[in-house]
Amino acid sequence: MVVDLYDPDSYVGAPPHEVLAELRRTQPVYFQAMADEPGYWMVLKHADVVHVAREPKLFSASEGGVMLENLAPEQLDMMRNMLLAMDPPRHVDYRRPIAPRFKARVIANMEDQIRGICREIMDAAAEQKDVEFVHDVTSTLPSRVIGQLMGLPAEDLPMIHRLAEMNTSGQDSDYAADVSQGTIDMAMYAIQFAARRRAEEPRADLTTLLLETDFNGTYMTDLDFGSFFVQLVTAGNDTTKTMLSSGLRALLDHPDQLADLRSDRGLVPGAVEEILRYENPLHYFRRTATADAQLRGVDIVAGDKVVMFYTSANRDEDVFDDPQRFDIRRSPNPHLSFGIAEHFCLGVHLARLEGRVFFEELLATFPTIEMTGEPVRIRSNLNNALKSLPVRLAR
Ligand code: HEM
Repeated sequence: MVVDLYDPDSYVGAPPHEVLAELRRTQPVYFQAMADEPGYWMVLKHADVVHVAREPKLFSASEGGVMLENLAPEQLDMMRNMLLAMDPPRHVDYRRPIAPRFKARVIANMEDQIRGICREIMDAAAEQKDVEFVHDVTSTLPSRVIGQLMGLPAEDLPMIHRLAEMNTSGQDSDYAADVSQGTIDMAMYAIQFAARRRAEEPRADLTTLLLETDFNGTYMTDLDFGSFFVQLVTAGNDTTKTMLSSGLRALLDHPDQLADLRSDRGLVPGAVEEILRYENPLHYFRRTATADAQLRGVDIVAGDKVVMFYTSANRDEDVFDDPQRFDIRRSPNPHLSFGIAEHFCLGVHLARLEGRVFFEELLATFPTIEMTGEPVRIRSNLNNALKSLPVRLAR
């Protein structure tokens, strides 16, 4: 096997699905070297990804963070303030008090707001007609929705949106220069926002909840709030955009299924799940082994990087029939695009709601949608995403 699965160039044309399928057969726990630091074990089978996710003490998110690259100590410290990179019991202390705010029933109350935002986006797109779908159509929805959730002032949203866009993949030369500046500026904004909000009356939003919650004996400082805020905006921004833009591309590539979806909108929730399986927005998250272990007979040594590779697990032949086929009627569809277990995506219901409402409004507004140029993918071994998708929308 000669493909370097660390090299972001290996993902530019398309994810290397054929290589991954062969590795699932021959080396399902595959070691990928890196040039400047220790390489990592790629966990390619669905059952093994689930196993790693369910053993958060043995496979730690905190020890080395969740990215392939080891971080500098101060960056790792900042990362550890995010849920994503906490281990139990601290993880549970922080997740439990905020989880009720993200429950399906609570998030369902946001449907009208989300539909309103989607309609505004569609109206603006209808005026443009020829659009670059990623930026012109999908990009403001996630930051506006997070703005609602956090109670951000409407006039700050364009700036948050701009900073969130800067956070996009640092491996792509179109974005690289600005990435860390985007993160720093957003954390600075959040720290000032927290200080302002502490001086005001509490409100019924997530900001008040975060600032006033007793996380097992500790309260968030403004700095903690800054890290948390960056995580929420970053976690929910690119991923949601990708679901919408890669989703449209998959539907345009399968016109018969797009036609079915147009004639039966009841198929939309299933289509969103299949989009998430087939076009998982994130390729992976990493863990670090805290003790020697075995995975499918392979010896893992304490300190090794262990990577849950969703792009492969979502197409595991042992779990999905005809896994390389896009099928909006696929059921069951136990994809792992939101992870599983301890760190299962907190925003899952919000993402699903945004996906359903967005596609309902898109299809209702535009009877004709066609691609007008080649889509371009981001150069990244983490973000499985498009950076441009030129389309014509006709009312
Ligand atoms: C299609 C959209 C999305 C995808 C594909 C996605 C994917 C993921 C994945 C794979 C994880 C698990 C990480 C791990 O196991 O290490 C995760 C965690 C998380 N996601 Fe999402 N996400 C999406 C949308 C959102 C949204 C909209 C929000 C919030 C507004 C959000 C907030 C979070 C948070 C806070 C975590 C950390 C949970 C924890 O560590 O306990 N996500 N997401």
